Amino acid sequence: MVDPVSIALGAALVLVVVALHYAEGTGWEPTGDMSQEVLERRAESVPETEFPEPMNRSIGGGGATGAIPAGEAEGELGEAEEEEGDEGFDPSAIPEDEVEYYEVEFAKEGETIEVANNETILDAGEDEGWDLPYACREGQCVSCSGQITDGPAGEYIRHRQNEALFEDDMEEGYCLTCVAYPTAEFTIETGEQP
Ligand code: FES
Repeated sequence: MVDPVSIALGAALVLVVVALHYAEGTGWEPTGDMSQEVLERRAESVPETEFPEPMNRSIGGGGATGAIPAGEAEGELGEAEEEEGDEGFDPSAIPEDEVEYYEVEFAKEGETIEVANNETILDAGEDEGWDLPYACREGQCVSCSGQITDGPAGEYIRHRQNEALFEDDMEEGYCLTCVAYPTAEFTIETGEQP
């Protein structure tokens, strides 16, 4: 026996499936590629910068500036190297037969002594028994600072290391006596700080 109710149910189900198959849907249509639009909107919200920013902002907002030109980068490095000045100077590497002596007048102590170019101004003064100021003895503070009264310090001494004085200070004659080695004769006022 065929159950008429089952036949009716089966037919109804088929009709529903067919109706769904031909239905128009929600009308939603996918738009084209939105990624470019989103990127442009984001780029507008990013403030412009006045410096080159390689590797980012490539979607806008400063991307046009591009990478730093090679020439400029080299120029900056060159300046940094110049500022290092005497870095790398190793007084202990001066051969014995190349050691030279210079007359250094210690104005406050009222004496002129000979200082070798492999000996610091501070050491030479202490050898005389003078109580000169110092703290780190490594060129990292200005406790030992003194002022060369003849002119820019760079014309009279070399620093083994200098992490405390600026170029301007040295232009005014200041040096760190704990790491300063003479390269000429000069007069120094000890205990003077920039
Ligand atoms: S004692 Fe610190 S720099 Fe000379």
